Amino acid sequence: MTIDLRSDTLTRPTAEMRRTMADAEVGDDVYGEDPTVLALQRRVAELFGHEDALFTPTGSMANVLAVASLVSPGQEVLCEASAHIARAELGAHGAITGLTMRTWRHPRGQVDLEAIADMYAPDMGPFFVRTTGVSVENTHNFAGGTVLPIDDLRALRTWADSVGVGVHLDGARIWNAHVASGVPLAEYGACVDVLSVCLSKGLGAPVGSLMVGSAAAVAEARVRRKRMGGGMRQVGILAAAGLHALDHHVERLADDHAHARLLAEACGLDPATVETNIVVVPRDDAADFVAGARAGGVLVAPVGPRAVRLVTHLDVTREQAEQAAEVLRGL
Ligand SMILES: Cc1ncc(COP(=O)(O)O)c(C=O)c1O
Repeated sequence: MTIDLRSDTLTRPTAEMRRTMADAEVGDDVYGEDPTVLALQRRVAELFGHEDALFTPTGSMANVLAVASLVSPGQEVLCEASAHIARAELGAHGAITGLTMRTWRHPRGQVDLEAIADMYAPDMGPFFVRTTGVSVENTHNFAGGTVLPIDDLRALRTWADSVGVGVHLDGARIWNAHVASGVPLAEYGACVDVLSVCLSKGLGAPVGSLMVGSAAAVAEARVRRKRMGGGMRQVGILAAAGLHALDHHVERLADDHAHARLLAEACGLDPATVETNIVVVPRDDAADFVAGARAGGVLVAPVGPRAVRLVTHLDVTREQAEQAAEVLRGL
């Protein structure tokens, strides 16, 4: 059987999750009448210590809505150069919101407060683009699932308050950061004005993300979501998968992290450098490595010509991780 390590988005809902979905109470969510969606939104808002949350079909939509709550057309957001919002959302923030981005570069996707403070542009009337938001990603996908230390996020919060800019967190994998660091979700929530979280990555739900923030920001996002075609109807069946994932699939992320360290070691990396469920293996022969792994029944993804990415998830058992490690060790 093929062991698929290309992404943690590849998981299929478990039998128990499917049963929970089938039994979900539903209503029309555009009317605000889907009890399961309302329960999920309430639960996630509470987890992060924010006033409200909004269910969205994708993390990309949650990010667009979240950043747009801080940054208006013609203003800018600062983010790390390989952030998902900058590289992988196909220009949505520019195309839909009409904002611009400037970036700092950090090999591990970390917060570089000195660079941020240097780039920051206050309101200078008709002369320069004004910075109204800073976006960070935790864990950082393209940097290899790295965790942002809570002290760096607190320092960013303090600085942002001192100049009056908003902070956005792309928390697609904040669950992995929480499990790896032991930092409560509410402490991450306290450092930011608005965040997105995904249920369809490590948590194993088939669909779903949420934008989380103040009641006013979420009310505005609800209108924008509808305008973007994201007003959904009886989606309690999807929200139920998310609630199930929050109940059953958060603490087990520690297993994914252990499996990732096992794979890293098999690839000749120091397992201590792997913080969560993503391993980036530098290989000059990335294409050959991918082909060799495939021949051994293991799917991995190239990230550019000189690196390969392995991602562990709910559908990879300990036994399969060990089996994959054997195949990768041979390469
Ligand atoms: C860090 C990060 N943010 C946002 C997203 C976007 O999620 P979606 O694919 O649901 O739009 C992803 C997707 O992989 C991601 O890795």
